[in-house]
Amino acid sequence: MAAELVVMGLGHVGLPLSRAAVSAGLTTAGYDVSDTVVNGLSKGRSHVGGVGDAEVTAMLDAGFHATDDPAVLDGAQTVVICVPTGLTEKGLPDLSAVEHAAEAVAARLRPGTLVVLESTSYPGTTEDVVRPLLERGSGLRAGEDFHLAFSPQRIDPGNTTWTIRNTPKIVSGCTALCAKHAVAFYARFVDHLVVARGTREAEMAKLLENTYRYVNIALVDEVALFCHKTGIDIWDVLHCAASKPFGFAPFSPGPGVGGHCIPVDPRYLAARAESQGFTFRTLAAAQDVLSRMPDHVVDRALTLLTEVRGHPEGARVLLLGVTYKPDVADVRETPARQVAAGLLAAGADVRYHDPYATEFTIDGRPLPRAEHLQDAMAQADVAILLQDHACYAREALGQARCALLDTRGNVVGSRVTLL
Ligand SMILES: NC(=O)c1ccc[n+]([C@@H]2O[C@H](COP(=O)([O-])OP(=O)(O)OC[C@H]3O[C@@H](n4cnc5c(N)ncnc54)[C@H](O)[C@@H]3O)[C@@H](O)[C@H]2O)c1
Repeated sequence: MAAELVVMGLGHVGLPLSRAAVSAGLTTAGYDVSDTVVNGLSKGRSHVGGVGDAEVTAMLDAGFHATDDPAVLDGAQTVVICVPTGLTEKGLPDLSAVEHAAEAVAARLRPGTLVVLESTSYPGTTEDVVRPLLERGSGLRAGEDFHLAFSPQRIDPGNTTWTIRNTPKIVSGCTALCAKHAVAFYARFVDHLVVARGTREAEMAKLLENTYRYVNIALVDEVALFCHKTGIDIWDVLHCAASKPFGFAPFSPGPGVGGHCIPVDPRYLAARAESQGFTFRTLAAAQDVLSRMPDHVVDRALTLLTEVRGHPEGARVLLLGVTYKPDVADVRETPARQVAAGLLAAGADVRYHDPYATEFTIDGRPLPRAEHLQDAMAQADVAILLQDHACYAREALGQARCALLDTRGNVVGSRVTLL
């Protein structure tokens, strides 16, 4: 029997989306080009943090199945594309996965189908990239024969308060009728839908959301650099400023930004703007500041190592938390990698502790992992708190024997240095 919904790309976005749809009673199938993903899910194994094995098993019991066979697209009422949108080696938008997915849909598209792009991309992707591929490959017309929509994903990995159901979702269509069909689809498992004027507005809104974080993190990072240079306590500055009940949204400085979205999405905006003869000055400035933060952490750590040991060569450094976000297992684009590489280059003996990252490689080589936090802290000359996972209790870290560089401004203690 044909699925009501086929989700293309069963990763951090597609798998939770499939779970939400299955819970709402939609007959759902997942299509992914990765054998590993398909085989794992078919055996009830989740590869995505926040979706447990038991939940995958419950999805399978409810009729969900994962496959790498595009025939699953035959007869689907709705197809949602959740494939990666990364960067090329030159740092430009890489839409190859979106293009391949659109071609696979086009080959099996039937009149009346709703196709939704959820992958983040620059304004114009749905209309100028996906639409022509679907129309050329199928001989059908968007808005006339089938419905085409864009609806960006706002999933926040690790966030149990804001879920797919209760997070407002932006929906847009190539025509008003396309948008109407997309609204009817998402209303089955999302409480509040916000209809954008068109697909470009929805695409731009998603980029604005992530660029807003990017630019504001860069701003507090630069304020932190200035405060360090001039002997001002940045953490007290932030505490004071955050007391303003209106007109100020707090952001925290840190070792840099990571993950699949925040460092990547602004590049989509900047590259698109450049191709249209527009220069985003704030993005260039933010990128410059953010790219300096891991090296700033390395410099601060080397100063501390020199104070503690006289020189960094052979000094034992323990990195605490290498994922890009607290309490998630994702190390994509994490600034911890640049920090580790800088310390290794200075001759330090670097290891890491992170309950979420069972392995962590630098230039293809695994960094030694410490299992026991207390033992590892006892053996280190300097520990660097990079990610404030809930397991890193402030009191225990503050009382540790080794010197601690805290890049998150959380820990108090006689041997603690704040970023
Ligand atoms: N991860 C997040 O928190 C998040 C949040 C909002 C938006 N997004 C956006 O959602 C999109 C997907 O991100 P993700 O984090 O889920 O990526 P991911 O890498 O976790 O998963 C993508 C999946 O798509 C599969 N895939 C690749 N090409 C395919 C193809 N042609 N057909 C079918 N499957 C294919 C991959 O094998 C992989 O399993 C991206 O555009 C991303 O920017 C991600």
